[in-house]
Amino acid sequence: MAILEVKGLCKRFGGLEVLNGIDLTLDQGQVLSIIGSSGSGKTTLLRCLNFLERPDAGELYVAGQELWGPACTQPLRQRRLHFGLVFQNFNLFPQYTVLRNVTLAMDLLAKERRGKSAARQAAAKNEQKARELLGRVGLADKLQNYPFQLSGGQQQRVAIARALALEPDILCFDEPTSALDPELTGEVLRVIRSLKSSRTTMIVVTHEMEFAKGVSDQVIFMADGVIEEQGPPAQVFGAPQSPKTRAFLRRSLEQVG
Ligand SMILES: Nc1ncnc2c1ncn2[C@@H]1O[C@H](COP(=O)(O)OP(=O)(O)O)[C@@H](O)[C@H]1O
Ligand SMILES: [Mg+2]
Repeated sequence: MAILEVKGLCKRFGGLEVLNGIDLTLDQGQVLSIIGSSGSGKTTLLRCLNFLERPDAGELYVAGQELWGPACTQPLRQRRLHFGLVFQNFNLFPQYTVLRNVTLAMDLLAKERRGKSAARQAAAKNEQKARELLGRVGLADKLQNYPFQLSGGQQQRVAIARALALEPDILCFDEPTSALDPELTGEVLRVIRSLKSSRTTMIVVTHEMEFAKGVSDQVIFMADGVIEEQGPPAQVFGAPQSPKTRAFLRRSLEQVG
């Protein structure tokens, strides 16, 4: 069964139609890459999925459960837990250590769900989990450092560990390497690839075409708020049907070359 189903998603800002009827389906353990020019609505789509923007129309189902619309009774905070989001600019808490950046949301959630004293007991377990996650992203030796003491690539890996800590059904990335120097993109892309091996369901907005080609089960090319082209990477990159996709890919290649 599809873990994620989006139907007819629309979003406008004032008079500007930014998303105009987005339909997509994603299976458990699959990776969906979203490519497209700046301003085509990619970030807005991720923000709608993460309940950071309220769509004007459309339906959203996670594992068959409706998360927008009148049938949905789950509180917003609960609905948000289905999704994790890794931002372009990391958005770590500068005043906390690496370890605390990862444990904080887990501790707050435990407190909210189980009360203060149970949360104190959960804290040790949460810390253990954070250590494991930070080990997985190669940062076991940075637990007590602060974000300003890390490179951009390391900060982004902390952000990934933090997003994984709450075990979202779907992990979203918004251009996770765009703010990084070229020599630091590889370490972040490697972590995302390793998550695919462990069957994490992911949506990755990216300008890294070679990466998208290699890691994705499905690729979407967005233009002007609609899905202009959609399919397996071999088709979208190898035999694009739409002239807009072809022009976009040609421009991307020119930039790389
Ligand atoms: N909060 C907002 N208010 C008004 N316009 C917005 C807002 N967020 C995005 N937009 C506009 O929506 C369009 C799509 O933006 P965005 O989703 O960020 O595109 P992308 O991520 O593909 O570059 C752009 O024209 C942008 O200026
Ligand atoms: Mg964007």
